Amino acid sequence: MKLIMLGAPGAGKGSQAKVLSDKYGIPHISTGDIFRANIKEGTELGKKAKKYMDQGLLVPDELVCDLVVDRIKQSDCANGFILDGFPRTIPQAESLDAALDQIDEAMDFAIDLEVADEVIVDRMGGRRACLKCGATYHLINMKPQKDGICDRCGEALVLRDDDKPETVKKRLTVYHDQTKPLIEYYRKKGILKEFDGTKLPQEVTNDIIRMLGE
Ligand code: AP5
Repeated sequence: MKLIMLGAPGAGKGSQAKVLSDKYGIPHISTGDIFRANIKEGTELGKKAKKYMDQGLLVPDELVCDLVVDRIKQSDCANGFILDGFPRTIPQAESLDAALDQIDEAMDFAIDLEVADEVIVDRMGGRRACLKCGATYHLINMKPQKDGICDRCGEALVLRDDDKPETVKKRLTVYHDQTKPLIEYYRKKGILKEFDGTKLPQEVTNDIIRMLGE
């Protein structure tokens, strides 16, 4: 099963992708997590990506596409994978299609989580992230078992640098300009599935699983 998670920043792509990855036993590939891990390790890629991420801008396509195409060729992706945060522009979607075409494969579904901008801004201030394993929590909606500590790996949780209100607004503008056109792109391909991302997280999961099958 090959899935794409679509939706605005904070729509719940990462939260849902983690649950689906565990349920279906396929890797969750988050370009945001890959960049944040590189920033933490101080790699060249991390240094380049940070300049864009801190401003709420997209990292240039040439730094993203090869990275994802190489990742999906790895053996753990043989039975499928979940892309979270990629593609984010039409050229990224075309480069993904071209890479899959070469091996006679195609994506199965693009799962779009619909959440209004006002809800997003409220959500982001309460998000706490684990920069080690990529898990996300919310101070009110999705609390960790122990305050400030990741349930999955025990790392301290932080407010992401790009979750400050001004940066969130910029990310939303970038989303509407550059990423939202992908909804039509996948609708035309007949693989778009839209979900109400304002329901409780478990309800959103149930809706998606009902569509994908047990
Ligand atoms: P990335 O990490 O991909 O950020 P994003 O797309 O902005 O998405 P988020 O991780 O912010 O949100 P999400 O939808 O995963 O929501 P979450 O589940 O955490 O990218 C960061 C940056 O990296 C980009 O801005 C860009 O610079 C760069 N980048 C990454 N990929 C790129 C690419 N392909 N090309 C170019 N640049 C790229 O949920 C959010 C919060 O809400 C959490 O607190 C959660 O607990 C809570 N929540 C989730 N679901 C619900 C619900 N149903 N009800 C209530 N609360 C909920």
